[in-house]
Amino acid sequence: MSEGGELTSGFVELSPEHGEAGRERAARLQLEKAAVLADLGELEMEVRAYRSDVKALRERVAGLETELAGVYASRSWRITSPLRLASRALGGLLERGPPVARDGGGTASETGSARPASSPKGPDSSASELRSLAAREAGTLKSLALSGVHDLCQEKVNLVAGCVGTKSLRDFGGLWAVYGRYLLEPAVSLKAEFASMVDVTPRAEFDEAVRLAKQQNSRLEVEFINDDFRDPGLYAGLRPVDTSILFDVLLHQENYVNVLREISQKTKRFICVAQPCLKESEFFLPSSAALLQFWPEALKDKYREASLWPKEPKVARFTTGYWMWGHSVSHLMDCLYGLGWTLQSGGEIAGIVGPRWDYALLRFVRS
Ligand SMILES: C[S@@+](CC[C@H](N)C(=O)[O-])C[C@H]1O[C@@H](n2cnc3c(N)ncnc32)[C@H](O)[C@@H]1O
Repeated sequence: MSEGGELTSGFVELSPEHGEAGRERAARLQLEKAAVLADLGELEMEVRAYRSDVKALRERVAGLETELAGVYASRSWRITSPLRLASRALGGLLERGPPVARDGGGTASETGSARPASSPKGPDSSASELRSLAAREAGTLKSLALSGVHDLCQEKVNLVAGCVGTKSLRDFGGLWAVYGRYLLEPAVSLKAEFASMVDVTPRAEFDEAVRLAKQQNSRLEVEFINDDFRDPGLYAGLRPVDTSILFDVLLHQENYVNVLREISQKTKRFICVAQPCLKESEFFLPSSAALLQFWPEALKDKYREASLWPKEPKVARFTTGYWMWGHSVSHLMDCLYGLGWTLQSGGEIAGIVGPRWDYALLRFVRS
């Protein structure tokens, strides 16, 4: 090998004492070496040609990105955004024919070309994907950057405080560690008249938090219902409210769609949901959820990495105290969509709950 890394074809004269056999072997090896060097030379030329192609393509990509940035920044792009989305959805429908079910069958990729429903290459584009795409394009679902749990608590308060016009609100499972903060702080800032807490585990600290909130908002009436909100019997007696809060609780309920249905019927304007969600990339199909409570421990440990999911005892029956579900954001959006709600605003925070999860903050309004 030369200094520049190139192989050279060195030739060594053999003397008579190397013998006939030695000379023949050396000649054979010289020939083989010459052939390999010739192949190598050709390959090196190809590599040089590929490198130059790669360079040209990189330059082309850079040029296209600059052009695209100009288009995205233009006023006309923002104005026509909903039209482009609608035409993409329509294009997908026309390509796959009439839907079998609401989200059934067919595909339309980003470029609008169809993939067979059974394609092994990846998930099909579907209504849920289009809805989350629409949410992103409309700016209602944003990527948020937060530095830590303290900021996250404030974002949860802000999500509820942003439910403009709310005069009555209810927090489902709002006591553990926070003692009603996500109910009472917004109840004060929104000048609400009625705040309700439903939690199966009472906490004495809540009484003090209520006293302080009433100091700031003397018209505030607060009720505490010590009950299990999985129980359908609970809801008949509940007073309807403008806003319902479900923070870090849906992932603990085996019957979360029924819980959402009951809550939906008792909520007039907003439903706020916040919790860790598995990244969409963890699933093959959109709108998916994983029942992780009974996974093998080794797999759970992998998904606990840097997340908020603590080590928990192994259980053999649904247990609300421990993590049960890994929902995707598109799954939660579709569950609410099926009950007549659409995303008004929300964010996904990556990085604070490990590599496999995003923390979702979602505010829904009646469709
Ligand atoms: C993980 S903590 C969430 C606390 C708070 N919402 C937050 O975001 O930090 C779950 C809380 O919900 C309550 N909880 C969970 N499942 C419940 C159920 N089915 N019925 C009533 N309360 C429940 C627990 O007692 C606990 O206070």
